Amino acid sequence: MPSFESIKARYEAADQVHVLQFWPQLSDSEKASLLEQLDSLDIERVNRIYRKAVTAEAEASNPNATNDPVEPLPKSALESVTHVELASNWRRIGLEAVSKGQVGVLLMAGGQGSRLGSSAPKGCYDIGLPSHKSLFQYQAERISRLQTVAEQEFGKNAGTVIVPWYVMTSGPTRRDTEAFFKEHNYFGLSPKNVIFFEQGTLPCLTMEGKVFLETPGSVAVAPDGNGGLYAATRSPLKSGDKSRTVLSDLAQRNIIYVHAYCVDNCLVRVADPVFIGYGISKQADCAAKVVPKASPTESVGVLACKGGRFNVVEYSEISKEQAERRDPAGELVFRAANIVNHFYTTNYLKLVQDFEEQMTFHIARKKIPHVDLATGQIVKPTKPNGMKLEMFVFDVFPYTERFAVLEVQRSQEFSPLKNAPGTGSDDPETSRRDLLAQHKHFLTMAGATVKAGVEIELSPLVSYAGEGLESAKGKTFSKSGIASSLEELDALV
Ligand code: UD1
Repeated sequence: MPSFESIKARYEAADQVHVLQFWPQLSDSEKASLLEQLDSLDIERVNRIYRKAVTAEAEASNPNATNDPVEPLPKSALESVTHVELASNWRRIGLEAVSKGQVGVLLMAGGQGSRLGSSAPKGCYDIGLPSHKSLFQYQAERISRLQTVAEQEFGKNAGTVIVPWYVMTSGPTRRDTEAFFKEHNYFGLSPKNVIFFEQGTLPCLTMEGKVFLETPGSVAVAPDGNGGLYAATRSPLKSGDKSRTVLSDLAQRNIIYVHAYCVDNCLVRVADPVFIGYGISKQADCAAKVVPKASPTESVGVLACKGGRFNVVEYSEISKEQAERRDPAGELVFRAANIVNHFYTTNYLKLVQDFEEQMTFHIARKKIPHVDLATGQIVKPTKPNGMKLEMFVFDVFPYTERFAVLEVQRSQEFSPLKNAPGTGSDDPETSRRDLLAQHKHFLTMAGATVKAGVEIELSPLVSYAGEGLESAKGKTFSKSGIASSLEELDALV
């Protein structure tokens, strides 16, 4: 452990020495833990990130600056799953990669879900389905089912195809997430194929870039945004074992392709073979899924171009004028809504480190509780008093040489859980509605009839994306219920 003097000198040089303001009053154990925290914090990097973020923000809002304009995504830049022949070819390519054990999944579950108003990790949320399964359970069961489908379609023995699931948590979500998985026996997956890892944190700063203290003996920190994913794939999985990281685990398992997604979308096609096959056939390093944006005010980022590079303009950063612009056909000009489903090659994930320092963090101005340096009292502000710095997961797009975009159907792939019950949009009720509507759609596509008012919840273990329902053809379902097997489905006729 470095000495108090050397830490003090480093923080003085960085103009952040106020973090030692209460040093004389701290107990020995508080002193030790503060020194440890300050030692592990790369304060020079924090200063660099802050300066870059505020400079970029000032430039972006300067009308005289010669920034490249943000342009809508050209139609030619994306392909669509509505092209049935292409989609079935992509599916075959992707499923073959799954069957060879070349596909892994990264889940971003480090967010705190403050808009939802629940303190538990979002993936534990019960959206009120008949089965009361959580979002995590749905995702786990889709992985199980996909493994089975790949085994069946590619003649593999049962239990031999594995899609490892890397679950990114953060300080606020790790413990509860791991406990939830354990409590539910990893939803039937083998614990050795569910790998938890944790994103990093950054100090919360005053508007002038000074580090806030949370208590007299600790710095206030917050997760570094879902773009912390990349650095987290290089960090040790456990503090005691520095040799094992997500990247090393991917390499050890010979995983070549990765699907990354957000925890809050109940319709997410985890390790989607169509998307994986699309990325492979485009020879993309990185690819993104989009859906048509529903309205100018929908809280989604949009895929766009800037200076000839792909980019996402976040909903908090797009101007009202841009968001509302329509083309002559009446469609929104910026309509390629980002649903945070990414394809990566594992090689590309390794390369991110080379350009990460060039990326600019985003500033979120927030109410940050902190210790008043003059009085030592805890202050709970009522309006934004400082900033959290976040990297967004799509900030790598402009640095990607081979990028591809796939448009998918909203009704089949996107219904996010963002807001508290009763909000009327992107809330538990809309998630439940959209998932059950999808199950009805699966049955209808299989040639069955579902009577009006009948609600059937199809377990993902029965069907991943509508496949395997041939036995329902010609049947009329007149009872509501849960179908965890084809026999249980038959009982609902
Ligand atoms: C996100 C996208 C937005 C997209 C929308 C679609 C980002 C930055 N924005 O917005 O472009 O249109 O979803 O639903 O991705 N997370 C972490 N660590 C963090 C913060 C978040 O893992 O530090 C995870 C969350 O657990 C969640 C995901 O990232 O799974 C998205 O976070 P959220 O804050 O809900 O993003 P949105 O603002 O809704």
